[in-house]
Amino acid sequence: MFKTMKDFDFKGQRVLVRVDFNVPQDEAGNVEDDWKIRKSIPTIKYLVDHKAKQIVLMSHLGRPSGKSDAKFRMDKIAERLSELLKKKVLKLDDCINEPAPENENIILLENLRFYKAEEANDRGFAKGLAEYGDIYVNDAFGTCHRAHASVSAIVNFLPACAGLLLEEEVTHLSKVLDPERPAAAILGFAKISGKIELMKALMDKMDFALIGGAVSFTFLKSKGFEVGKSLVEDDELKTAKSLLEQYEDKLILPQGQKLSI
Ligand code: 3PG
Repeated sequence: MFKTMKDFDFKGQRVLVRVDFNVPQDEAGNVEDDWKIRKSIPTIKYLVDHKAKQIVLMSHLGRPSGKSDAKFRMDKIAERLSELLKKKVLKLDDCINEPAPENENIILLENLRFYKAEEANDRGFAKGLAEYGDIYVNDAFGTCHRAHASVSAIVNFLPACAGLLLEEEVTHLSKVLDPERPAAAILGFAKISGKIELMKALMDKMDFALIGGAVSFTFLKSKGFEVGKSLVEDDELKTAKSLLEQYEDKLILPQGQKLSI
C-alpha cells in the first residue's frame, strides 16, 4: 500500500505538492473550467489545518514544449486558487532556482513544462524541485500516468505520500480492478493518447464500456461520422479505429447519426 497524508506530521514542514492545474483556458489565458483547481482544495486545507510551515504547489499547464510561453504562465491559475481559498497565493516566476520567500504560506511555482527536463524525468531537475520541500505530496491524479520529474524522479529526493484526491481516486479505482460481473464502465475524457493502456486494462475487466465526453468524437470520426468543430485527436484516428475493431461488442458510442452537429 502507498503512504497517505495520515502517515506524516506536517507541523512546521515545507510541503511540496504536485497538483494537476492543467485546466482549459480561453485565448487570454483565463481559466475556463476550474474543476481541477477546486479538487486540490481539500489537500491544501488539510496542510493548512495541520500547520505546515509552507505549501509549495507545482503543476504543468498545456504543452509548451520545454520553453517559456506567456500563454501558459500560471498567474491566472494562482489568482483563481487564491479566490477559492480566500488566501494569498504567491506565484513565483520560475519553478526552479527561484527562492521561496520564507514568510509566504502558499506558493505556486511557474509551469513545470517550461523545462524539457520535466518531461525527460531528469533527476537533476527533480533534485532542484525537491529543494522547495521537506515532504512531497502527489495529488496530481490526472498526471500520474506521466513518468515526469515532478511525478516520478522526485520521490528519490523527498519522503513522499499521496494527497487526498489521489488517495480517493485510487481507492475508487481499486474497486474497478475486481468488479462484480456483469459490469459496465462509463468512460469520458478528452484524449485517447495516454489513456489507451487504461482503456485496454478496463476492457478486459468489463462487459461493456459506454464512451462519452470529447473522446467520443475521435471514435465517431474514425468511423466516418462528421463531427463539425468538436475536439478531435486527428493523429489518434487509427488508434480509435483499431480499439473499436478489437472491442467491437463492448464499446458503445453515442448515436453519432442523431447528434445535431
Ligand atoms: C490531462 O489534462 O490529461 C493531464 O493534466 C495530463 O496532461 P498531458 O496529457 O498534457 O500530459
